[in-house]
This record gives sequence, C-alpha cells and structure tokens, in this order.
Amino acid sequence: MIVVLLAFDRRKNYFPGLTALCLNASLPTTGAITFTIPNKVGTGGYAYAPLDPSPIGISFEFFVFPSYLTNVTATQQCLSNWKSLTVVWPPIRIGETTQDRAQYDSKTSAYVVYSVADAKDAPSVLTFGPKFMTLAGTYGGSVVVGLNRGKNNIDNMIAAAKVAVSEVKNLLAIEQNDWNIRVGSAVGKTNIIQAGNWNDAPPKWGASQLIATENATVKPYVRHYARHNYPGGTIQSLMTHSTISNNIHTFDTDIVAAQAIGKEYVFGETNSVSGGGAAGVSPTFGAGLWTMDYALRATYSNMSRTYFHHGTHLLAGASHLTVLDSGSTNYAAYATFDSKGLPLRVLLYISDYYAGSGTRTTQSFTLTGLTSATVRAKRLTAASATSRVDQGSPPSFGGQQFGNGSCAISGTETFETTFVSGGQASFSVKATEALLVYLQ
Ligand SMILES: *[C@@H]1O[C@H](CO)[C@@H](O)[C@H](O)[C@H]1NC(C)=O
Ligand SMILES: *[C@@H]1O[C@H](CO)[C@@H](O)[C@H](O)[C@H]1NC(C)=O
Ligand SMILES: *[C@@H]1O[C@H](CO)[C@@H](O)[C@H](O)[C@H]1NC(C)=O
Ligand SMILES: *[C@@H]1O[C@H](CO)[C@@H](O)[C@H](O)[C@H]1NC(C)=O
Repeated sequence: MIVVLLAFDRRKNYFPGLTALCLNASLPTTGAITFTIPNKVGTGGYAYAPLDPSPIGISFEFFVFPSYLTNVTATQQCLSNWKSLTVVWPPIRIGETTQDRAQYDSKTSAYVVYSVADAKDAPSVLTFGPKFMTLAGTYGGSVVVGLNRGKNNIDNMIAAAKVAVSEVKNLLAIEQNDWNIRVGSAVGKTNIIQAGNWNDAPPKWGASQLIATENATVKPYVRHYARHNYPGGTIQSLMTHSTISNNIHTFDTDIVAAQAIGKEYVFGETNSVSGGGAAGVSPTFGAGLWTMDYALRATYSNMSRTYFHHGTHLLAGASHLTVLDSGSTNYAAYATFDSKGLPLRVLLYISDYYAGSGTRTTQSFTLTGLTSATVRAKRLTAASATSRVDQGSPPSFGGQQFGNGSCAISGTETFETTFVSGGQASFSVKATEALLVYLQ
C-alpha cells in the first residue's frame, strides 16, 4: 500500500489541504520496477552526462522572430517562466527554412521585409536589416543566428555575420554548413560556427563524416556540430520510451566524433513532426511527454543543447544526469545530481499509451537508496495522451497549468509526500503520466 499525502508547499506557505489517500490496491498494476539511486555521481555503473547550464532551448523561425519578440506577449511570459525556474534565460536559435531565403540589407530600418498572400504563409524571399540583429542582441540568453547559404552569396552573408557579431553580445554561434574559414576569418573569430544541418541521417551523413573532411584550418572555427531531427509518427509511437532511446542512439557515433575533437554536439533544430508540426499530434499531451523524454535522453547521450519548445523541470540547477533504465521498455527513470555530486531529483515516466477510454493501467516503481524520511513529488498528468490545452483539457504539473495561448501559470503548486522506510519508497504512476520525485 502506498500512502500519498497531498501536502502544502513550504516555500510559498500555501495550505491547500492535507489529504491522505490510500491508493486503491485493486487498480490494474504490473510488478513493481525497482531502481537504486546512486548515492554519488559517477557510481553505480551508470554513464553520466555533464549538464550545460541550460541544455534545453528554443528555436525561432527566422522571419517571425521579430514578431515573436515584439508582438506575442506569451513569448516573454514563457521565456521568463523558464528563467525563473532555471535561473538562466533559455538559449535561443533563429533560423529554419526562411533563413535560407533571407538577404541582408544594410539600408533597411525594418526588422524584416517580406510579403505573403496569406498571413500563415512563409515568405519565399525576404530581407532583414541591422535592427534584426540589434533585437536579437537584447535577449538575455545565448543566441545562435542562422545565416543564408541558400542564395549562395558569401559577401552578403559576411556582411550579415559582421552585424551579428557586433550587435548580438550573447552570440554563441553562426549557423551554416561550410564557408567556415571565410566567414570566421572575416569576422575575426574562431569558435563561432555551428556546423552542419544535414538532410541525410547518420550513418550516411553526420558529424563524423563531416569532421573527416575537415582539416586543421577549418576545425578551430567550429564551435559545435548541429543536427536537425524530426522523428514524426503517431502520438503513440512518438511517446514510446524505447522508440525515443533508439532514435537518440542514431547520433551516438556523431556525438563521440565531436567529443573526440573537443567540440559540442547539439540538436540545432528539433521537434515532433517536421513542416510546422501535425495538427493531430504536435499540440497533444502525448507529444509533450515525448518532448520531456526525448530532451532528457538526448541530454544523457551528451547532446549539449536541444533547441525546441517546452521542456522539463528535472534539469533545473542540476550538474549531471543519468538514466537508470535500459531504454528497452516503456518505463523510464532519470536521475539528476547537484554540483556536489549528490542525488537531486528522479523522474519516473510510463510511456504506455492511454487514449482516454478503457482502463488506465498503473505501474508501481520502488526507489531504493533514499536517505531522507520522506520525499516529495510533483505529478505531470492529463486526461489522456490526446489532451490539448486549446481544447480545454490542459495537462497539469503539480496541480498547476499553463494558460491557453498566454503561458501564464494558474493553480496551486501541489506536492505529494511519500514516506521512506529502510531507504525505500514506492510510487504509482499511471499510463501516459510522469512523476518528478524531489530527493532534497
Ligand atoms: C507587430 O504588429 C503590428 C500590428 O499588427 C505590425 O504593424 C508590426 O509590423 C508587427 N511587428 C513585427 C515585428 O512583426
Ligand atoms: C583546408 O580546407 C579548406 C576548405 O576545404 C581549404 O580551402 C584549405 O586550403 C585547406 N588547408 C590546407 C592547409 O589543406
Ligand atoms: C557522456 O560523456 C561523458 C564524458 O564527458 C562520459 O563519461 C559518458 O559516458 C558519456 N555518456 C554516454 C551516454 O555515452
Ligand atoms: C484557446 O485559444 C484558441 C486561440 O485563441 C481558441 O481558438 C480556443 O478556442 C481556446 N480554447 C479554449 C479551451 O478556450
């Protein structure tokens, strides 16, 4: 029997009510899965990924970036929700399709100039002015700017790269495929190029193949290697834990090749489905769970940063991440460690698909190696994998929700408290649900 206490949040002195629930033992449950939490980073026979201060970031389509920053109020709200959680602004990247259609115009006073027949269309040609880079430079976090190679005009690109370097103080990298030397030397900087953006998947084409073609003059200009990835599929295939870990394993060789020459490897642009997403998949809770598991699995595999929407709370303030499960089942367990190497949080995830009807199964997890008398947890749940905020069925995390279109947080933060006995505690997680357990 598991006793779950819905307790108050000590930090905010809320008291939403102290409720003791005894979870119904007759719920359909498969055998408990047990994980031992390593007592210190580097132990227990697991692989550990050192964490970037801000491993999860956001990618903006090039031509709408000024509009997102100046006209969409939810953008600032979402970014600042993130910052209040992780202390640092999430890294951003500006690029995608319209990056390869953009020409720099030093004379224009506008951010971007283009015309489209329908407001939902992406322009086939556009120009951008110095103000575009000035705006990017106002952002508090790191910025990767994608510049055009599609038009094959290197002089125009160098002119744009020079403005980017002078205006974007937090510029992390300029994104493009080659021309590394000419652009890097023109702006007088090494460690400035985000290299790669390939349509073929490894092992056909990836960082390891690219690195093999690069000589010692080129490499110093590369700051990191980047990959685009859109796994696609149905909600169910997308959110299945074993599918996610297999997908991430595709990049193992590339990551090792980049690490071998002392460079980072990032997902420069990624999301569930390419081409702006699929209406029946991308806005759902199941796709949100994919985002969470995918970002964690990528980070564990030493992907330094992953640029997309949404994220997870597990990594905030942590310095190392490991995976406790094998990656071959529907059940995931991730553990993070603080700067002293002590266990910080554990995320339990059941990727069994629940579409909203029939029996929702429950899985029991037992964690061993716990050192406190009680642990607190927050639950990430929704009515089903197909739940959507815009259809009035918002997912909740620890009892709180994000507003439809506004990104404002509502509801009272709620923790479940579980007693630890003999260093062990058990947790019930339903199909299509995750539980974040706080160990400190
Ligand atoms: C913001 O919206 C206004 C009014 O619709 C529009 O005139 C302006 O061009 C927009 N700004 C950007 C950067 O898109
Ligand atoms: C290194 O590669 C670049 C780009 O392919 C080429 O222009 C340059 O001549 C090469 N340098 C040497 C020393 O081979
Ligand atoms: C990630 O890199 C670290 C070295 O920085 C290594 O110890 C670890 O095994 C790597 N993780 C994986 C999953 O390969
Ligand atoms: C959420 O916002 C969208 C866009 O304004 C609107 O179409 C939709 O009806 C809203 N959904 C709910 C549940 O209010």
